[in-house]
Amino acid sequence: MKITPVKQRKQKPDFSKLGFGKYFTDYMMVMNYDGAAGGWGEPEIVPFDDFSVNPACSSLHYGQGIFEGLKAYKNSKGEVTMFRPRDNFVRMNRSAERLCMPTFDSDVALNALVELVKLEEEWIPTLPGTALYIRPFMFGTEPFLGVHPSHKYTLCIILSPVGSYYEHGLEPTKLIVETELTRASKGGTGEAKCMGNYACSLLAGERAKQKGYDQVLWLDGAEKKYVEEVGAMNMFFVIDGTVVTPMLDGSILRGITRDSALTVLRAHGYKVEERHVPIAEVVEAYKNGKLDEAFGSGTAAVISPVGTIAYGDLIMEINGGKMGDITAWLYDRITGIQTERYPDEFGWVYRVG
Ligand code: PLP
Ligand code: COI
Repeated sequence: MKITPVKQRKQKPDFSKLGFGKYFTDYMMVMNYDGAAGGWGEPEIVPFDDFSVNPACSSLHYGQGIFEGLKAYKNSKGEVTMFRPRDNFVRMNRSAERLCMPTFDSDVALNALVELVKLEEEWIPTLPGTALYIRPFMFGTEPFLGVHPSHKYTLCIILSPVGSYYEHGLEPTKLIVETELTRASKGGTGEAKCMGNYACSLLAGERAKQKGYDQVLWLDGAEKKYVEEVGAMNMFFVIDGTVVTPMLDGSILRGITRDSALTVLRAHGYKVEERHVPIAEVVEAYKNGKLDEAFGSGTAAVISPVGTIAYGDLIMEINGGKMGDITAWLYDRITGIQTERYPDEFGWVYRVG
């Protein structure tokens, strides 16, 4: 693969104060698509730098853009690994299909990513709760103003050493149920990891912040009766000892951490249900003292305890606003598998190199 070397490597940030998505490594991977010139070109590794785009670039106008998020780790033996990377490229291709964008060969993208991560090994932080966040994304680049799928695209992968997604780390987050705006509806793009889903979530997110909440808990777009997900994570409740999470029915993201959590919980004998979760059931469980725990799952968010959920005038404080036992167990298990403190019992750890 063609690699253009950087003139000088950047100074690394303090790995104990990373936050999320603020620092970027020296290199990025770029692969271009041109429908009129036979499709995808070869992947290349180039210095991390600004793109030059035409002002008529289609994605700037009509939003043909998708992305992914995954992480690389360095285990205690110094070996570099990634967590379930193939699943991300499979999901990215599904998003591409929904947005009328070209699919790509997952193996080509994965091999290019492996080369990129090898080159950037020294950027992988190793303190607990840190990792190298990997952000693949693709956008239409053809300059035209008619509304039709772009004939040209760029697929790019950038890397960012990260700590915890939420500023307050593992402190339980505060969510507010959004009762007016919606994020996605059946038949829409809720299941795709596309730019527009995040753009349309921002207004509710900002209003939530003004009221002192961290994130929005979305309800279904049709009736606003059923819990869907949070802006950057899937949602779980522990109700009377059973772990309950909204089923995948087209309007929420098929979270890879969600799938990992369900698999690990089931394998260790926890009772788990994937189904519609009415917000009324959550409220009733809370009122009856049976809402034991709530947490979110995501690559960036990992397993994040939820301490408060506001729904209208009702402020539900869950487990005294503290992380619950099942949430803590799951956080330990998932991060333990990711960093190989626990055996990789499901074959999720991908070795780089
Ligand atoms: N839901 C949304 C809207 C997300 O942005 C994310 C983050 O990727 C998730 C759920 C969790 O998905 P995953 O576990 O694959 O990161
Ligand atoms: C991730 O967890 O990888 C995400 O994409 C969430 C994000 C929007 C920061």
